[in-house]
Amino acid sequence: MPEQPAFRPHHIAIVMDGNGRWAKKRMLPRVAGHKQGVTSLRRMVEAVGARGVRVLSVFAFSSENWNRPDEEVSGLMQLLATALAKEVPSLSRAGVRIHFIGERSGLSDKLRAGLEQAETQTQQNDKLILNVCFNYGGRWDIAQAARRAAEAGEALTEAVLDRYMALAHVPDPDLLIRTGGEKRISNFLIWQAAYAELYFSNRLWPDFDEAALDEALADFAGRERRFGLTSEQVTRPNPSAQGKSEGREHA
Ligand code: FPP
Repeated sequence: MPEQPAFRPHHIAIVMDGNGRWAKKRMLPRVAGHKQGVTSLRRMVEAVGARGVRVLSVFAFSSENWNRPDEEVSGLMQLLATALAKEVPSLSRAGVRIHFIGERSGLSDKLRAGLEQAETQTQQNDKLILNVCFNYGGRWDIAQAARRAAEAGEALTEAVLDRYMALAHVPDPDLLIRTGGEKRISNFLIWQAAYAELYFSNRLWPDFDEAALDEALADFAGRERRFGLTSEQVTRPNPSAQGKSEGREHA
């Protein structure tokens, strides 16, 4: 069991980048990289759960990914369908509650039914919440929240929009990790990651293992989270670890 950092994130968000390059290095098709990405994701769910993290949100398919070659898009759809059948039962036994976050109208009826079934099947679980962001974009999220709030006749304040955002069921991410060497957020959780600590790893996603996670957690433990306050105003312990297990709040 790895040594647990003193201040651990409650919610980790990950941009799982580098599958294509992982495959290319091995002269494999890009979809083989995504397949390995699913294996890496499965390992990461176990790893973060074992380290006391309560929420994991991952970027599995962005609103912009539709523009990739048809073969890759259909490969990712197929991979999600396969992962639903193969991984959901064991994730459920491990106490993982799954939410799919994103626009579902572009997905096939069969896939949509699979997502709903996975959510229903795991809804009683409470060890770890896994948000799989699929056909998701941060700007889409803000727009859909604003549209729904306006339709409900609500004022478009920050607090109101917060309630309509797609991740309203969890506290904001404390740590946002991006693998694959790029230093961008790429339209992932742009509302919710306002105060997240950012961590960029050069490892390609399929190579991002427990040791790499521990490096990220150790780095996080050394950060001073100020939430707009001065250094002197901030007293430890880490505000994100306190009283944020239910609902949302901003420090
Ligand atoms: C970015 O790597 C990754 C994606 C667009 C897909 C991420 C998906 C997974 C990790 C699999 C999990 C998915 C499902 C369906 C549950 P990239 O292709 O941009 O890599 P590159 O930058 O090396 O080309």
